[in-house]
Amino acid sequence: MNATEWKEKLSAIRDSFSVSITNRSAENPEALELRFLGRKGELALLLRDLKDIPLEERKALGALGNSAKAEMEARLSELKAAAGRAAGPAASGIDLTLPGLPCPKGSLHPLTITMNRLAEGFLKLGFTMSDGPLVEDDYHNFEALNFPPFHPARDMQDTFYVDAKDAAGKDMLLRTHTSPVQIRSMEKQEPPIRVFHTGRVFRSEAVDASHSFTFHQIEGLYVDKGVSMADLKWTVDTFMKDLFGTGVKTRFNPSYFPFVEPGAEVDMSCIFCKSGAGRCHVCKGTGWLEMMGAGLVHPNVLKACRYDPAKWSGFAFGAGIERFAMLLFGIHDMRMLYENDLRVLKQVQ
Ligand code: DAH
Repeated sequence: MNATEWKEKLSAIRDSFSVSITNRSAENPEALELRFLGRKGELALLLRDLKDIPLEERKALGALGNSAKAEMEARLSELKAAAGRAAGPAASGIDLTLPGLPCPKGSLHPLTITMNRLAEGFLKLGFTMSDGPLVEDDYHNFEALNFPPFHPARDMQDTFYVDAKDAAGKDMLLRTHTSPVQIRSMEKQEPPIRVFHTGRVFRSEAVDASHSFTFHQIEGLYVDKGVSMADLKWTVDTFMKDLFGTGVKTRFNPSYFPFVEPGAEVDMSCIFCKSGAGRCHVCKGTGWLEMMGAGLVHPNVLKACRYDPAKWSGFAFGAGIERFAMLLFGIHDMRMLYENDLRVLKQVQ
């Protein structure tokens, strides 16, 4: 190749580069760079051919080649910058300076918080957690708890029966209370026993501000040698004070439940009006709130679980958890606990 041919070749390369870069949809800047300026690119190969050209001409041609190279590099970097701008955040509609979207944090439901607090209270008193099924048989929900068939006390709990039979051929049911867990716990373990359970129960009731077809209860059971009403009173009083403050008082009224004798209803002094004076809408001016049922475990219940009533005695109690949740969080309508209204749930954390 002589000097003239070399110059012609250089100007052909420049022209072809110029066409390619103007019509850049065909090739991206990186491909152009590789094709013209790369180690085996068109310009590089041409510069290599300089070695065949006499020295006196070579210098001038070299200078020409280098200035072509510099010009091509400049145009390529301009093109790259423009491409970067086009693909950048502004072009895609993303503003990286905007604060991120808030990521909402979940929280526990007020009933769960309440159950956890009740559980903590009883764990502290040396009780352990026990469990039982939601779909129960007649034996555990009624019979072993000293509700014989056709006993009028069964009417205290309007029951949902399900379309399935238990081992005795009786209809299965949705448990109406957590008391069957007493039986299931005693069947599993020899005395002494000190257990509690929190969970869901079901009754065929119309829904209003203080009733629901499903709600939650806590159940407690303690059987040992010489357990008396005094143990029950101390346990309940200590627990209530732990939960609602040392200022609250408890009192026991005689009541009837087939599975305890004597049986009682436990009241707590009203935590809102603290006196009963005036027209407190929570205690209805009585100064007392009904909080749970309790009593000494009936000998028939102990016998059903093969605990000898001559040797062992115990107490049991059961309470509605919604009541505790409503008092702890100042909720006046039970339905608020089931509607999942985030405005309510956010206030209770
Ligand atoms: N199971 C009873 C109910 O649902 C509540 C209850 C009363 C539980 C007295 C007890 C108890 O353990 O001793 O109405």
